[in-house]
Amino acid sequence: MSYILSIDQGTTSTRAIVFDADGHAMGQAQKEFRQHFPSDGWVEHDAKEIWNDTLTLCREALRNAHVEAQQLAAIGITNQRETTVLWDRATGDPLARAIVWQDRRTASTCETLRDAGHEALVRERTGLLLDPYFSATKLAWLLDNVPGARQRAEAGELAFGTIDCWLLWQLTRGKVHATDATNASRTLLFDIHRQCWDEELLALFQVPASVLPEVRDSAGEFGLTCPELLGAAVPVAGIAGDQQAALVGQACFAPGMVKSTYGTGCFMVMNTGEAVASENRLLTTVGYRVNGKTTYALEGSIFVAGAAIQWLRDGLNLIRDASETEALARRAGSAGGVYLVPAFTGLGAPWWDPHARGALLGLTRDTGIAEVVTAGLEAVCYQSRDLLDAMAADCGTRPTTLRVDGGMVVNNWLSQTLSDVLGVCVDRPQVTETTALGAAYLAGLGVGLYDSLEAVASRWQCEREFTPMLEESERERGYRGWRDAVARVCRDAS
Ligand code: G3P
Repeated sequence: MSYILSIDQGTTSTRAIVFDADGHAMGQAQKEFRQHFPSDGWVEHDAKEIWNDTLTLCREALRNAHVEAQQLAAIGITNQRETTVLWDRATGDPLARAIVWQDRRTASTCETLRDAGHEALVRERTGLLLDPYFSATKLAWLLDNVPGARQRAEAGELAFGTIDCWLLWQLTRGKVHATDATNASRTLLFDIHRQCWDEELLALFQVPASVLPEVRDSAGEFGLTCPELLGAAVPVAGIAGDQQAALVGQACFAPGMVKSTYGTGCFMVMNTGEAVASENRLLTTVGYRVNGKTTYALEGSIFVAGAAIQWLRDGLNLIRDASETEALARRAGSAGGVYLVPAFTGLGAPWWDPHARGALLGLTRDTGIAEVVTAGLEAVCYQSRDLLDAMAADCGTRPTTLRVDGGMVVNNWLSQTLSDVLGVCVDRPQVTETTALGAAYLAGLGVGLYDSLEAVASRWQCEREFTPMLEESERERGYRGWRDAVARVCRDAS
């Protein structure tokens, strides 16, 4: 009974990994799923498809790990955050496709609320901004646009949840309607200080309380899976949004510790212990809630990191595979004054400019494929610097180490350049599946397999540390160029 099954339900793919108690992956399974783009700026997922995939992948991961469900101590769930599902409590069927975090359809609702002066209240209570990124306006959109939904919600017939909550409902066959504090903290409806749904925000976003799940600690028994699903009733004992789960997987348990995950986008999260109100347009969010104690975090979200490399590959055909970028960057040495600002869908933190668009600047007659690709990698580093500077300004101290994970950091050139551009040590852990690992650790804590966060921290191991090797003057010169480039495309950056 010492294995943990971790479900990592991401934006483009779902995976299930079986870990042993020491955090070693024993077997896994993964599948991409369909993205729906029904209109400009709209992104939807089929929640039923996500559930069916999740179940199949859990069974497959167990088979691959040669582990029976009876040998599982617990299940952990981690998920793409903010994505909004509304379903029928009686049938368990979604009323419509889920509205994904990237979806911009409620931008004008957010603008109207901002113009009416509501942002200060929202920021104070939730730590977030009035942006379509978060769940509340998506949920209100579903209630207003699915025929009969608002009326049925008010009659108590409907349930709302982020993906964790949806999967928990399905795994327990409708017995448990709950989420954890990290996921609740991304809805715009949750008071992160009082740790409860906020009446005033519910009224502001016109969301009836009857649709809301119960909010619990990130570690603890949420419910037992229906035995027919996996062959045994297994406790779901850990839940956290994916970036918060990565914070746990990276064992960033002391205030001031920071992790950054480099996937399609990049999410930098700093443990702050207490809630810190950002003056630099970062988000204040729940890092994790364990044993009733809430640990807060500051978060900077960049929408395009690895997606810029995808664009160089699929949009421009400059490379055939992302793995080629390291050799090209080594050949070029640097981008030589070329800057790629990958504002393809606007800019996230700390700029929050949905109208900004991408640019490639500083081209000369010598510029070749290697320089453009290198500029794509450097952009990831410069954007990280924007975030780290904002965090340092908010906290009054600059972290000296950044723990990194995600697909991009296997690139040694990128990891070294990150260290050079940030001027801090960059630590890459032995297990880079930190998101899934974090959910497994929370589940292990939830069933007492680990007795404390310290027990989890002792399992974290560094695979390689990158230390800054660039002269200070060089570092600042490169970054000034980046800021000039951002100022050309973004209204508030000059
Ligand atoms: O806030 C959105 C974030 O949770 C999505 O993460 O890794 O699924 O792209 P990911």
